[in-house]
Amino acid sequence: MTERHPTRAAGPQDQRLRERAGAVIPGGMYGHQSASSLPSAFPQFMRGGRGARIWDVDGNEYVDLMCSYGPVVLGHQHPRVEQAAAAQAALGDCQNGPGPVMVDLAELLVQTVDHADWAMFAKNGTDATTMCCTIARAQTGRQKILAAAGAYHGAAPWCTPRPAGVTPQDRANLGYYAYNDLASVQRAAAEAGGDLAAIVVSPFKHDAGYDQELVDPAFARGLRALCDAVGAALILDDVRCGFRLHLGSSWEPIGVSPDLSAWSKAIANGHPLAAVLGGDAFRDGARQVFVTGSFWFSAVPMAAAIATITALREERAVEAIKRSGAELRDGILAQARAWELPVSYTGPDAMPYLSFAGDADRELAGLFAAAALRGGVYLHPRHNWFVSAALTGDDIARTLEATDQAFAAVRKHLGQ
Ligand SMILES: Cc1ncc(COP(=O)(O)O)c(C=O)c1O
Repeated sequence: MTERHPTRAAGPQDQRLRERAGAVIPGGMYGHQSASSLPSAFPQFMRGGRGARIWDVDGNEYVDLMCSYGPVVLGHQHPRVEQAAAAQAALGDCQNGPGPVMVDLAELLVQTVDHADWAMFAKNGTDATTMCCTIARAQTGRQKILAAAGAYHGAAPWCTPRPAGVTPQDRANLGYYAYNDLASVQRAAAEAGGDLAAIVVSPFKHDAGYDQELVDPAFARGLRALCDAVGAALILDDVRCGFRLHLGSSWEPIGVSPDLSAWSKAIANGHPLAAVLGGDAFRDGARQVFVTGSFWFSAVPMAAAIATITALREERAVEAIKRSGAELRDGILAQARAWELPVSYTGPDAMPYLSFAGDADRELAGLFAAAALRGGVYLHPRHNWFVSAALTGDDIARTLEATDQAFAAVRKHLGQ
């Protein structure tokens, strides 16, 4: 997105780092955290965070509504998580074999997530979604995977949203359906015929850049019934939503169990870890595949995950997120009404997405995000936000002050 209404540029430290990065990192930065498509005031480089507050390299402080794009759920530097990580680090992290924490964590996940009888670990969400597909193929002896058109399941050639470097063969065994449209799944499944290994689905439609759509429970039940009827795996991609919406699989509240689920982001409150959880019916497939990585069995993130899941439960974090998310939604929607700006505020309160009516090129969203940033709140113009359990009353008040100023900036831009 080009910013047609530049505010201030990012600070001098950030500028210097960008210049140095431009020489030694392709494009200066890459991937989802590249600030190149954000309004120019957004910093690229961050110094640190604590609770719901973060600081960029120039020392500017923000209330964090992006939570590192999902990994931070309890707040930055959560004391219990960091203590557990430090205690494990003092013993060892990357060793010739995993620590006992691997078994402890697998047991805890099996206790915490209804559909899980076993757990495997990796580093990133892409590892987990890819492993789910591989396990489904190993178990069923079939090849085809169905995914929702436009859904994000990671950055491997089978699922990256950018075509560069991807061959048609990488996608040869994929079929696509429309989210919440069971007839489209049935059509794609019929095309796959007897070769359907799995259907991949996210807990709700959270495609970046579009209004979010909650899952229709009848659609979820229909997917379950279809997979049962044809002997394919239902894979729930809980990488983005996992442990933010529910302390269990995100479809437990609607009573639909996947066969396999992919997790990462929030499970260790920012420490690098991913998991695949599965039911007994897919245990053999999971046993057969060869999946591994040099850092997959590091003990520190596993210790952090145990502390995270324990804190999520004991601190009733999901409820806190829901409460803060509802307060933000009510406040922001009241402000939009007061400024007479038609907006959509979609997705669960814990992971909201704000868009302006008629803002096809996201110009107003960019203006809003840049103004919120000036007011001390870090939120995103084209991606769902993440509400953490660390938001205090002060953080919410500061956020609402900043969003009010941001709506004022949009109103001024459009004329009174
Ligand atoms: C739903 C979903 N699946 C998979 C991924 C890939 O995770 P990672 O970036 O950790 O590989 C993401 C990342 O944003 C995601 O949101």
